[in-house]
Amino acid sequence: MIDRETVAKIIDTAEIVDVVEDFITLKKRGVNYLGLCPFHNEKTPSFTVSPAKGIYKCFGCGKGGNAVTFVMEHEHLNYVEALKFLAKKYHIEIVEKELTADEVQQRNERDSLMIVSGFAQKYFTEQLHETPQGKNIGLSYFKQREFKDEIIEKFQCGYCPDKKDAFTKEALSKGYKLDFLEKTGLTISKNNYNFDRFNGRIIFPIHNLMGKVIAFGGRTLITDKKIAKYLNSPESEIYHKSNVLYGIYFAKNSIVKNDKCYLVEGYTDVISLHQSKIENVVASSGTSLTTEQIRLIKRFTNNVTIIYDGDAAGIKASLRGIDLILEQGMSVRVVPLPENEDPDSFSKKRSPIELNDYIQDNEKDFIWFKTNLLLKEASNDPVKKANLISEVVRTIAIIPDRIVQSVYIKECSGQLSISEQALYSQLNKIRWKKHETQKRRQYNQAESFTEKTQSSIPAFVEDVYSELEEQAVIRLLIMFGSLVIFTKNEDYEEVNTTVAQFIIDEILNDELEFKNLVYQKVFEIYQKYLVKGETLDERFFINHEEENICKLAADVLTPKNQISKIWSKHGSYVETEEMLLKDLVPKTVLEFKNKIIQKAITDLYTQIQESQQQDDYNKTIELTTKLQSLIILRKTIAEKLGNRIIV
Ligand code: CTP
Ligand code: MN
Repeated sequence: MIDRETVAKIIDTAEIVDVVEDFITLKKRGVNYLGLCPFHNEKTPSFTVSPAKGIYKCFGCGKGGNAVTFVMEHEHLNYVEALKFLAKKYHIEIVEKELTADEVQQRNERDSLMIVSGFAQKYFTEQLHETPQGKNIGLSYFKQREFKDEIIEKFQCGYCPDKKDAFTKEALSKGYKLDFLEKTGLTISKNNYNFDRFNGRIIFPIHNLMGKVIAFGGRTLITDKKIAKYLNSPESEIYHKSNVLYGIYFAKNSIVKNDKCYLVEGYTDVISLHQSKIENVVASSGTSLTTEQIRLIKRFTNNVTIIYDGDAAGIKASLRGIDLILEQGMSVRVVPLPENEDPDSFSKKRSPIELNDYIQDNEKDFIWFKTNLLLKEASNDPVKKANLISEVVRTIAIIPDRIVQSVYIKECSGQLSISEQALYSQLNKIRWKKHETQKRRQYNQAESFTEKTQSSIPAFVEDVYSELEEQAVIRLLIMFGSLVIFTKNEDYEEVNTTVAQFIIDEILNDELEFKNLVYQKVFEIYQKYLVKGETLDERFFINHEEENICKLAADVLTPKNQISKIWSKHGSYVETEEMLLKDLVPKTVLEFKNKIIQKAITDLYTQIQESQQQDDYNKTIELTTKLQSLIILRKTIAEKLGNRIIV
């Protein structure tokens, strides 16, 4: 891990405009910069960069973040890689840091789950190849389905013995903790008895992008409609179904090389296509395709070809997938298979060359596929045909790029024998509706984007308890609340206010609270009086009816806390604390805020590490953006405090 100081330095140094301009052209518009969004296709620029806030936002596609997240998204890097990328650009030396005990524990938990999963995979594989039951039942099943040895090995397939708890027993005897076995779902505990989730099933391990086993799919060998054909690992710290694609680790290089990704439905489809020399293939396995899964593919290519089963359910799944993929600005094709075939069964009936030819010959653009399909359904029914047209146009409207849209309109017009004009008029209606809602949304967003940069603490920051800083603020409130000071406001104008008014405004504006309940009480009392236009002095608190308030007042007024005289270097008396209030009050409030921000920054670092480890891309981006806003804020405060605050 990169140490925090370096992370802060990178975030601090990386000028958003400078970073973005390495990739796209920006033009200055008022205080912001504007350009064409690199994350979706557009003709009129809606990609806005705010140098003051250090962030970008596309009002077309909604993407937004800071310099680090920009590099992450644009270069398909993870958080640490993006930091290293920027460090290199700005010649910042990277210092790797040791982990804290907490971080070690966090990491340990995830590592433990990975380690248990790795152990389970090896166990299942060994069972498959080296035990009589595994060989007779598991391996012979694979053989019967014509899976070759090398492919079974490559995908680390396995077998879980049909013995209730054989695996769990073995794992426990090897020292693996029950806790981790349960969390990965490998073991199910009921009434103090432990069962193997996968007993009697053949095993397909699920790998993450790095090739580590994070979950399993287990297929039963019994043909009984009452038994689920597949059982899968439950969600866990290391396995988030909707973010994972089966086969992505084995496919990623081939996807890049071919600039195309085949999308199939099941484990066996992926494996069989590999056996037929098609390696750029992944499966959504069991869940319906999610946007996260599509974004995962998008890191490697913009072209997806769906090969789904030739049955009704398969076709329905393809149609749903098409819209989601188009929405991401990617291109979609479909390869329809003959009825009752899936990629696995179909590929077994052809040689690799024949299979490849079939795919080449039958790969259809989604629009052809969809129109044809619906045409068959509609036959000569005019109402159905009208619905069909709207449905096809609706899909075309999802495509972000206008030029691509117009190509499809042409294609569709030919296929349906309808004038392009008629199709455009429908398309425009949909566009207009979309435009309206989007405009409304963008307007709201833009309002907040151009808002003046203020040094207020964002709402997501939680208060923390910091005795020293809280006490210092309350002490000034009690001792000097009624005195008048001159301070500068946001526009650097001198304003004339009481110490109490200043403190109370500052605290309320940021919606902060004192965690020490006595301090909070004093604060609230003062606030009540201030609203009525009254100020209080120390005697009010010393004589207060509540004992802990008197005690507090007495405490802060004891000699050691008395107004201290400030002495010059030469020992001559210069001025009292009272005379320095105009600096001291804002400074003390800022120290209080700084403490809270500091804690929030530390928490964010930890959360970013977690989301990194979970490969949770969107979460990382969200957290990094928050981190950036706090680092900027901390810098502003440091400048106001007139000193550098050390990370
Ligand atoms: N699936 C699942 N749970 C089920 C059924 C299916 O998780 N009860 C998932 C599996 O990932 C499976 C995919 O959906 O691979 C496709 O299901 P299906 O087509 O029924 O299975 P196949 O992959 O064709 O498996 P097989 O060829 O062994 O029947
Ligand atoms: Mn199948």
